[in-house]
Amino acid sequence: MNTRPMKILLFGKGGQVGWELQRSLAPLGELIALDHDSTGLCGDFANLAGLAETVRAVRPDIIVNAAAHTAVDKAESEPELVNTLNALAPQVLAVEAAKLGAWLVHYSTDYVFDGSGDTPWLETDTPAPLSVYGATKLLGEVLIAQANPRHLIFRTSWVYAARGGNFAKTMLRLAQERDKLTVINDQIGAPTGADLLADVTAHALRQVLQQDELTETTAGIYHLVASGETSWFVYAKHVLAQAQLLQPAIQIKATQVDPVPTSAFPTPAKRPHNSRLNTSKLQRTFGLSLPPWQAGVNRMLAEIL
Ligand SMILES: NC(=O)c1ccc[n+]([C@@H]2O[C@H](COP(=O)([O-])OP(=O)(O)OC[C@H]3O[C@@H](n4cnc5c(N)ncnc54)[C@H](OP(=O)(O)O)[C@@H]3O)[C@@H](O)[C@H]2O)c1
Repeated sequence: MNTRPMKILLFGKGGQVGWELQRSLAPLGELIALDHDSTGLCGDFANLAGLAETVRAVRPDIIVNAAAHTAVDKAESEPELVNTLNALAPQVLAVEAAKLGAWLVHYSTDYVFDGSGDTPWLETDTPAPLSVYGATKLLGEVLIAQANPRHLIFRTSWVYAARGGNFAKTMLRLAQERDKLTVINDQIGAPTGADLLADVTAHALRQVLQQDELTETTAGIYHLVASGETSWFVYAKHVLAQAQLLQPAIQIKATQVDPVPTSAFPTPAKRPHNSRLNTSKLQRTFGLSLPPWQAGVNRMLAEIL
């Protein structure tokens, strides 16, 4: 019997999701975690040959890719770099993983959709990205699926983590500085914790590794977001109310929070209005129940306040 521990190669270890994956993947085996400036092994997604070399040197059983170009507005002015990071680099990982029979886990986004309507998107719905970021993330999905049948792609939305900057922290800061806040109320989605993404990833991986013969039915794209839905406006109000509950001493100056349409804040990249993602496939396949978005946000607030 082969008792060699699973080898897991993680890219983007310092990002919101990557940081949490370092925790959740650790019990699955030997974890080699890289960032773009790692030394010894190349983790830089701009260096495609270097990435391939890394996979060949490590010979992992599983590759988890949490690295990406996520600066959605900046992406509009540097499409070539974004395409390399979000599409070509994941393709290299998929090609090299396929040669080893390794699984590749990757993350994608609600931005692959055009945001029309108000029905939660299914995995089988036709993507139509509105931005460079969305288009390159979609191409990344396609190239991975073509190169390696053993893949899990989790599309998620509105990711936050206790570590680093996030929307909730920005709202809390602004509410202490200003008398009034204006927040977009015509984009609807589900704030999703990086910790939830990391925990579900580890759970799903454990299942696919135990049932490798089910590759055909378990591989593919899954929508993975916290349950429920909200607008940025309602999200902001929830954050401020919860912060006052948790930390009554906090000085919220903003007595008024006003809803505004997306058009009030013009940005280089167009964002989808309907970012709802239907998660039935994930819950059914992996026997999971996704918690309401408020649970994760409240927990994150308790950690940072
Ligand atoms: N954030 C969201 O709201 C959101 C929504 C939907 C889907 N997603 C997807 O979820 C995944 C994880 O996102 P996240 O929120 O954790 O993003 P993040 O916090 O921005 O992390 C991205 C990671 O990629 C790394 N990176 C940037 N350029 C790189 C390069 N040239 N080579 C190697 N690594 C590089 C970053 O490193 P440095 O920080 O050192 O540059 C960082 O570690 C991504 O696939 C993203 O597209 C995110």
